[in-house]
Amino acid sequence: MALKITVIGTGYLGATHAAAMAELGFEVLGLDVVPEKIEMLTRGEVPMYEPGLEELLRKHVAGIEGSTGRLRFTMDWAEVAEFGDVHFVCVNTPQKHGEYACDMSYVDAAVESLAKHLGKPALVVGKSTVPVGSAERLAARILELAPAGGEVELAWNPEFLREGFAVQDTLHPDRIVVGVRSDRAEKTLREVYATPVGQGSPFVVTDFPTAELVKTAANSFLATKISFINAMAEVCEAAGGDVAKLAEAIGYDERIGPKFLRAGIGFGGGCLPKDIRAFMARAGELGADQALTFLREIDSINMRRRGQMVEMTREALGGGSFLGKRVAVLGATFKPDSDDVRDSPALNVAGQIHLQGGQVTVYDPKGMDNARRLFPTLGYAESAEAAVRGADVVLHLTEWREFRELDPAALGELAGTRLILDGRNALDPVLWRKAGWTYRAMGRPAA
Ligand code: UDX
Repeated sequence: MALKITVIGTGYLGATHAAAMAELGFEVLGLDVVPEKIEMLTRGEVPMYEPGLEELLRKHVAGIEGSTGRLRFTMDWAEVAEFGDVHFVCVNTPQKHGEYACDMSYVDAAVESLAKHLGKPALVVGKSTVPVGSAERLAARILELAPAGGEVELAWNPEFLREGFAVQDTLHPDRIVVGVRSDRAEKTLREVYATPVGQGSPFVVTDFPTAELVKTAANSFLATKISFINAMAEVCEAAGGDVAKLAEAIGYDERIGPKFLRAGIGFGGGCLPKDIRAFMARAGELGADQALTFLREIDSINMRRRGQMVEMTREALGGGSFLGKRVAVLGATFKPDSDDVRDSPALNVAGQIHLQGGQVTVYDPKGMDNARRLFPTLGYAESAEAAVRGADVVLHLTEWREFRELDPAALGELAGTRLILDGRNALDPVLWRKAGWTYRAMGRPAA
């Protein structure tokens, strides 16, 4: 009989995973503790913007016309325990307030609520990003709490999806990593992932700590790559070099590669910043803090970029105060194709200038509602054109395609001054300069 799957936590990770499992042909039951989320998902609506996710969900959610009916949602733990052979734990692990460590309370609560009801054999699979050592601790907790005792096992299966590509990354992962303690657990997970593995996704089997570490190591490497190129941008600025050319040239070396070498205002979002901090905190607990002191530098290079963008703006406006200056900000989300503004460098820069007296007007294709909630005192406009009207300077802070497709000549008619600062090194300088704009970008020569 085909495995029945449950997904606990229906955020970015869980909602996508649930829909993807249904797409792979499984019967899926999703659980969340937030009633509004469950109501939305049951109607086939996604609580966030993620390309392709709503379509995939509507294709499978029971009760929607024409759907396969393979995907349902509930808030009932007993129903989930009764239904599932494999339970994926997909709840979030935010940074603890006031410390670097990660807050495990949601994962702990989810595993405990589930375990208490597990009266039949099952595999609980952790997907959340957790400090190394968590799986071992949770496995013991499950053994303690589950009525079925040793018939319930734990596995760890980190998730590498990128926001904006979540559906594609989940259906066609570039690797599947499973930390297991038995052949039975491995066999079950091979069954779950038979389709992507059949299509070529590598399947890497490890122990618990390695599986947990793969995720934090991968994110630390990505963060390091971005901060490396941003450090080179700082040197280019001092030496009169061009970081975009430098990135292109080093990227041709296959060992380096061209991806994740875009200099700019740095990384943000719900993962990279908090994951490298939690990793440092955990290494400290393990007595291995020296191994990760370099991540402190990666973090500070990254955070410095935001302040440097503010200073570059001040300088471009003639130095001194922002008082009375009209600043148009294109982009609020931490990356394009997402409505996520968590730890967004764009919103951080907009906020700093606003707090220093600038009249900031923000436009973002998808992130307006979330940005307004987080930063209600900023000005917001309904379009790029409306944001730019009368502006003394335009800041390009999130690299949406919509902004690359703007017509610099038409926009120039609206702007108070044709001055654009590209915080993402993503616009075409030649095009903007041809239309009479002063174009400046981080780590690149002024003209
Ligand atoms: C990241 C990891 O990529 C993913 O594997 C993991 O599962 C979760 O964390 P995500 O947070 O969606 O995914 O964003 P990502 O695409 O990694 O970008 C992170 C940040 O880095 C963004 O703010 C982006 O703008 C910035 N970035 C990325 C750069 O500044 N330069 C680059 O060259 C690439």
